[in-house]
Amino acid sequence: MTVLEAPLRIGSTLVRNRLYRAPVLEGAGSGPDAARIYTEAFEANARAGVGLIIQGNSCISEEGRSSPGMTLVNTRQRTLDLKPATDAVHRFGARIFLQIGHAGIYAMEGWHASYAKTRRWPLTAVSRPRIHVRVAVLGQSVHVLTTPEIYEIANRFGRTAAWAREAGYDGVQIASSNAKLIHQFLSPYYNHRDDEFGGSVRNRARILELIAKAIRREAGEGFTITVKIPLGEEAPRFTPRTTFSEGVELCKLSEEFGYHAVTPVGLSIFPHTSLCRGGDPSDILEVDSIRRRFEEAMNGSRVKMAVLRWGYRSAAKNHPFAPVWNRDYFAAVKTAVSIPVFAVGGIRTRDEIDRILGDDEADMVGIGRPFYAEPDLPRRLLAGDREATLCENSNRCLPPQQLGLRARCYNPNVARKRQARADAT
Ligand SMILES: Cc1cc2nc3c(=O)[nH]c(=O)nc-3n(C[C@H](O)[C@H](O)[C@H](O)COP(=O)(O)O)c2cc1C
Repeated sequence: MTVLEAPLRIGSTLVRNRLYRAPVLEGAGSGPDAARIYTEAFEANARAGVGLIIQGNSCISEEGRSSPGMTLVNTRQRTLDLKPATDAVHRFGARIFLQIGHAGIYAMEGWHASYAKTRRWPLTAVSRPRIHVRVAVLGQSVHVLTTPEIYEIANRFGRTAAWAREAGYDGVQIASSNAKLIHQFLSPYYNHRDDEFGGSVRNRARILELIAKAIRREAGEGFTITVKIPLGEEAPRFTPRTTFSEGVELCKLSEEFGYHAVTPVGLSIFPHTSLCRGGDPSDILEVDSIRRRFEEAMNGSRVKMAVLRWGYRSAAKNHPFAPVWNRDYFAAVKTAVSIPVFAVGGIRTRDEIDRILGDDEADMVGIGRPFYAEPDLPRRLLAGDREATLCENSNRCLPPQQLGLRARCYNPNVARKRQARADAT
């Protein structure tokens, strides 16, 4: 029976226990203080005993960020500048992977007025967008990738991975869910190409095969590569989506392509809170400074602000929090592949962790949002504390992060609970 404290080898990376910090953004951006921001956040997690940190999505090219606070790793120097963060994590015995990706059609230049104004490139699409997406990017120029450009994108992933290795990262995770570019390749909702990258599941997954090859070539055979795979997608009626069995097939293909671990997740094909189920955070728009920033981003459009509120509300209604909501997905994949399977989504207690590992439903257990409020959470969980995390899944961390503000817990109830706990000890 697997226990939380047992080490695990993932590719060439030996992780000291089964707890990982799931990728959540820090809003660290790409300025001179990016490494310091990551160091501050991750050092505390590593000191508290976390096994592995997956740093939130960093972008392989300037035109692929989905929010202004996303870190660019589009040059060797920018990537090497993050070395203080990997050093800090290693000093305390933990491991760190860098998640790398590109937002594709959902790049921030498509929705954020300040960046749309200075945009020098069209939005990147896998295929001509369907009607729902065309409405979201109305008035924007869109470029459908040519076949040679796809090979170049895969090479860029390879080069970034090589820089990440130089910067001290123990591995990378491909940002291939949450409606990002690589997810857009995997999903028949976005991908209706007629070249070798479209059609069958294997063709849609070909981008993952190319990326794995490019990473091995550029970063070396021994570098650990992992991937996040969407299964059982939700999509508008009468549109195609990745089914549960196709998602399992994608995970098996990932193993065949040489990925060393897989994170299966169930979610919508749209970028909303189906990936972080929980509350409706629209009340945070009552905070003047945050509302003003959104109004600025939406160019003062009341319609866009109403759509934003509606989006938060309907996503919360249709995807309420449920403990361990991805269990059916990761447990099914665990029986289908022999590489390590990472669990994530609504895992909040030591009992839940013990059951996932004890019943052999996954090999690593990931926690995301609770780390914002409790950087030393691993210490408590590893000590056998049975109390749930402080996080209330309000999703108030989400809107500030969309604006590029520093990531942290923005829920005042949680701050009060944290203070009460500190006072009691
Ligand atoms: C503010 C925020 C930022 C996130 N950023 C990323 C990201 O960069 N990459 C990613 O794969 N998932 C991202 N996620 C999803 C988390 O990794 C995780 O899957 C999700 O929050 C569910 O886990 P939890 O219930 O433990 O928070 C983000 C979620 C939130 C709330």
